[in-house]
Amino acid sequence: MSQQDPFKPEIRAAFASPLVRYRGLMSDQERETLREMFIREASDPARGNAVLPGTVTREVFESEWDLFERDEPLLQRLREYCLGGTLRAIRDINRYSQEQMAQVRLRAQAWFHVTRGAGFAAPHNHPMASWSGVFCVDPGDRDSEFQHNGVLRFFDPRTGSNMYMDAGNAQPQGVFAVGSQNFVLESGDLILFPSYLLHEAAPYFGERERITVAFNVQTQGLVDFHL
Ligand SMILES: [Fe+2]
Repeated sequence: MSQQDPFKPEIRAAFASPLVRYRGLMSDQERETLREMFIREASDPARGNAVLPGTVTREVFESEWDLFERDEPLLQRLREYCLGGTLRAIRDINRYSQEQMAQVRLRAQAWFHVTRGAGFAAPHNHPMASWSGVFCVDPGDRDSEFQHNGVLRFFDPRTGSNMYMDAGNAQPQGVFAVGSQNFVLESGDLILFPSYLLHEAAPYFGERERITVAFNVQTQGLVDFHL
């Protein structure tokens, strides 16, 4: 007769958040063409966001939020990558069947940032969306001495989880890790995250423009759920 060990703890993983990364999306040529297009448009003030969100500094150009509604084939392709990646993440995280996924439609607002030296985006989240994403067209220059140059930083939503640390909680593993999570972006990276997560684009220092696309997603369909 087998007997359960009464001292074997049952550990539940609670309050984890998914951070999704795809790498190497779009070709070098496509990203270079996007880069040139965005830098050109960033020099035209008429194309800027009419109301800047207040979280970005003046070294950051923010476009209007219509990037995925435009007809240029390259922007349509960018949209396919960004929203295709989002659909796959939605499928895997919700464990939706093929039939359920067939009902999911996405709405999205997308814009680009051209960030020049000393620019940053202060901590914020994206209300009124379930998923948000950042696609890296060009990370700009690396800084060999400052590894956090321009990182995309997510803050731990478990407020105070590292307020007191001793040997008892010094190195919690896996989903139990505490503190912020940084991504050093590379060209072609797509990072997806729940829109409630506070995040920032850390101050960027470099000669070359840092160019990213950001978007928010809401779904339509599959709305018949119960609490
Ligand atoms: Fe953001």
